Amino acid sequence: MNISHLWSIFEFLFYESFNCILHMDFSLSEEHLMIRDAARDFANTELLPGVIERDEKQEFPDELVRKMSELGFMGIMVDPQYGGSGMDTISYVLIMEELSKIDASASVIVSVNNSLVCYGLQAFGSDLQKEKYLTKLAAGELIGAFCLSEPEAGSDATSQKTTAIDHGDHYILNGTKNWITNGGRSDIYLVIAQTDRDKGHKGINAFIVEKGMPGFDIGPKEDKLGIRGSDTHTLQFNDVKVPKENRIGEDGFGFKFAMKTLSGGRIGIAAQALGIASGAFEIAKKYSKERKAFGTEICNHQAIAFKLADMHTEIEAARHLVMKAAWDKDQGNNYDLSSAMAKLYASKVAMEQTVEAVQILGGNGFVKEYHVERMMRDAKITQIYEGTSEIQKIVISRSVLKD
Ligand code: CAA
Repeated sequence: MNISHLWSIFEFLFYESFNCILHMDFSLSEEHLMIRDAARDFANTELLPGVIERDEKQEFPDELVRKMSELGFMGIMVDPQYGGSGMDTISYVLIMEELSKIDASASVIVSVNNSLVCYGLQAFGSDLQKEKYLTKLAAGELIGAFCLSEPEAGSDATSQKTTAIDHGDHYILNGTKNWITNGGRSDIYLVIAQTDRDKGHKGINAFIVEKGMPGFDIGPKEDKLGIRGSDTHTLQFNDVKVPKENRIGEDGFGFKFAMKTLSGGRIGIAAQALGIASGAFEIAKKYSKERKAFGTEICNHQAIAFKLADMHTEIEAARHLVMKAAWDKDQGNNYDLSSAMAKLYASKVAMEQTVEAVQILGGNGFVKEYHVERMMRDAKITQIYEGTSEIQKIVISRSVLKD
């Protein structure tokens, strides 16, 4: 090997390591920082006042949804061609985290509209469906809901009891969907139903159903433990006539449509969990620097300081998983595994760290005006919806064991 050969190896290694440094850049761009700050500002000035009352009265924030639409938050990742903001998934995660730090009820409205409804239509809808529905959903003129869960098919999503029978130019839809976020307030519902039971998951389709279609009834609102400002209902479909052009994708694509859409949705919920955890952490940290016990601020006691150290570490670990999942989606990588890991971990962190925040605030943590008890209640749903933690473990373990 001569000297010029050695030199080219050195050049190659130098180039590769330089490239590696570029790829490992964890900093946010100027644009991302501006988007995060805009969401933070909105959350503090608009969502914070009234958040306790909305939780108490289970009040849907109609006016705030209108304001979020004006900021482009209802169609964050939608192509501007369809009236969306054209932002990336990292921006979506940043917005979700900031909104969720203050009000997880408001953020789930954003999340379902963005990642389950708008994304589903943008990625898999026909031109006609995009023109007719996506443009209005992205602008926030319409709100959307995603209807997969049923009384007997939550985690076991292939066991759909809702049927859609082919009648030529339309389907006849019958069945019940429950725990539907935005259930009463939506205008557009993406409904998953069985069209041919003999074909198993290949006999499932997804349909666009409009509020007001004859036979479509909205049941009473659920009285929930958390995210009480969001709107959750059971829906009933009795011989609803759905035009064939409202089926999403090829015949039999419905189950894959649901799975692919939920993979992105899980990034949104992971970001929501991250926001709930970091919101509670910020409150606990501030409180610990003000509250005195045994002659000093409680943060000076190692018992509290170490809690804060653990909380911060856990939250940062969750943040890295959430960002990695968002980055995978933006890069066009498969994100089924990274979104499942992000949701599993961030939701666990949200649950555990909100409990710690309540503990740091002591008696005040148990009182509504200090917010952390609400955050603790809100955190629980992040371990349940869009696939329970146990479902995320199925997705992760299958992926890990594949090779
Ligand atoms: N992308 C594309 N295709 C996928 C996929 C994905 N992410 N995941 C599975 N599939 C495909 C499989 O490849 C398979 O297709 P082939 O037979 O052609 O290979 C088909 O789908 C069936 O897959 P599985 O055999 O893995 O199906 P399963 O019955 O074992 O279930 C599961 C898999 C992951 C457990 C799935 O049922 C699941 O995710 N369940 C949870 C459902 C869920 O998240 N519900 C939440 C409700 S929505 C909600 O909460 C919204 C709200 O309002 C907030």
